[in-house]
Amino acid sequence: MSEQHHTEPHKNAHARIENLSGGVAIVTGGASGIGYALVEAAVTRGMHGVIADIETEAIQVAEDNLSAAAHAAGVKLLGCTVDVSSQESVAGLADTVTRAFPDTPISLLCCNAGVGGGGGVLTARDIDWDFVIGVNVKGVANCVRTFVPKMLSQNAPGAIVTTSSQDGICCAQGVYGVTKHACVALTEALYNEVRGALSVHVLCPNAVATNIVTSERNRPVRYGGIAKEARPSDTKANPIAERFKAFGMAPSRCADLVFDAIQSGEFYILAEAIDDPGYVHLEAQTRMDAILNKGLPSRPKSELLTKVFDLRIPLPDKE
Ligand SMILES: NC(=O)c1ccc[n+]([C@@H]2O[C@H](COP(=O)([O-])OP(=O)(O)OC[C@H]3O[C@@H](n4cnc5c(N)ncnc54)[C@H](O)[C@@H]3O)[C@@H](O)[C@H]2O)c1
Repeated sequence: MSEQHHTEPHKNAHARIENLSGGVAIVTGGASGIGYALVEAAVTRGMHGVIADIETEAIQVAEDNLSAAAHAAGVKLLGCTVDVSSQESVAGLADTVTRAFPDTPISLLCCNAGVGGGGGVLTARDIDWDFVIGVNVKGVANCVRTFVPKMLSQNAPGAIVTTSSQDGICCAQGVYGVTKHACVALTEALYNEVRGALSVHVLCPNAVATNIVTSERNRPVRYGGIAKEARPSDTKANPIAERFKAFGMAPSRCADLVFDAIQSGEFYILAEAIDDPGYVHLEAQTRMDAILNKGLPSRPKSELLTKVFDLRIPLPDKE
């Protein structure tokens, strides 16, 4: 018979925002979409912002766009090119952060960088699995293993937020869904290991208006990507990318929900879209009901996802 472990119930430390201000916020994937919104929100709440991303040019644009907000808040911005799927690259990020902020605690770690796609579990090639797992799972693990021991040794309040997805808590689809389930599992495991010393959260959003659909732009050559210089210049616009931008929720909504959760101690951050309320909750419930009642995997219909993926539905008029 297996040994029963009775652990003390512990609390998701309430890392009150005012205690995090003055510290460093590291956001992977911070140059675009949800990550950019997280950096902006952290900076306006008085944290120094580290924009850690694989896209060097986008980092520069993000730094330029956020410099006024950082100046107004009296904090610094640091852009750093990193490939989170490489442990060596993440170690380089850690060195850069330590050199720039030698005496300042890391108060927020957002393991947010991620890539879409990958295909179905039957159609994905070995290299597709490696790419999407490399960024969405190993990328989170690399950052957690590198930064969380430092955060624990600081004896200061701190929060860790990973970005999973609605795809991480509903019945999974495709390689992406597999990795987003793994991200939730990794974050749950982390929560149990830090035992309340830091607050831990996982963000699970519905569709967000970001650049996620064009994730191939960030595919490293070692995972089958095409070097930027060698890419054809006449790549056609992707209609789904446009629809995510048109119908998805604002990335700033995700950032606001993250900071609300840090304040309240909420672990699972179900980021519902305003025009599809309750959907992420329903997806999780549908999966749990199937597990507990000998059901089959299925997903409820989403108004928002239908608008995003059904090309027959016209785009909203631009004002
Ligand atoms: N957009 C959505 O609808 C949605 C929904 C749920 C979850 N998510 C998740 O949100 C997170 C952020 O994505 P987004 O939607 O803002 O997309 P995005 O493409 O706008 O931003 C992702 C950022 O991650 C960076 N990145 C990609 N690979 C990287 C790597 N190897 N190392 C470092 N940085 C890397 C990209 O350059 C980009 O700046 C992802 O984990 C994604 O899976 C997105």
